Amino acid sequence: TVMERLLGVHSKEKQLSKVLGIDHCLIVAGDSTKLPKVLTDMGKLVNETLDVILPKGENVIAAMGGTTMANVANSLTPKLSQQRHLTFVPARGGLGEAVDIQANAVCARMAVHTGGEHRVLYIPEHVSEQTYKPLLAEPAVKEVLQLVDKSSAVVHSIGEAIPMAKRRDMSAETIAMLQQRQAVGEAFGYFFNQAGEVVYKIPRIGLQLRDLERIPSVIAVAGGANKAAAIKAYTQLAPHQTWLITDEGAANLILKGV
Ligand code: F6P
Repeated sequence: TVMERLLGVHSKEKQLSKVLGIDHCLIVAGDSTKLPKVLTDMGKLVNETLDVILPKGENVIAAMGGTTMANVANSLTPKLSQQRHLTFVPARGGLGEAVDIQANAVCARMAVHTGGEHRVLYIPEHVSEQTYKPLLAEPAVKEVLQLVDKSSAVVHSIGEAIPMAKRRDMSAETIAMLQQRQAVGEAFGYFFNQAGEVVYKIPRIGLQLRDLERIPSVIAVAGGANKAAAIKAYTQLAPHQTWLITDEGAANLILKGV
């Protein structure tokens, strides 16, 4: 259980938290890139963790998009809404993802699975900065940003830099620039190198990395051997109150010294 893990029963998890410099790491068996069931197990663990750490009453939860997060959404249960009222909001929008894995879609699914509510951030995914700027004045956009600001928890994933840039159809020049700057990972639209230095940021609204410091709970969900370097890099800039929920595929490589 999460409680046992908090007490440090699982020494590998303790070791990983120490190596990565964050408060909590939880590791599920297997490698999620090889076995889809492992992704579901990570999702279930997110559900358990949220149930332990979310306060009773009103809670806003900010969520990101991606395939990991879409799976997490399907693993959440109505248990989370016992003595709580949950509202799911996209932490950042317009990162260039396909519709079914956008943060808006993930939040809608999280609301269905928990019996909570959700809000949509009306920011088109593929749009120039000039076009999207005036949207910020929209009351519907402002309302969601205010909710993000009040969130008691953020749930997000971490990706590999170049595969993420390609998935979002970023330009060949930008991809070349990311390669030249040795970007290894991406989270929240921020690309970073092995040392955890931000080398590029997609200029979009919503949660910024520095805002994470004052969010009570941050859950990062990412697994698979291919993501080991990205996870290690990200945790160097992650706030200490981060819970990393990962799998053995990533954890074993990080502990070996990726
Ligand atoms: O684009 C949203 C996002 O959460 C990114 O910040 C992250 O790198 C990516 O999705 C992870 O995607 P996946 O779970 O599909 O690997």
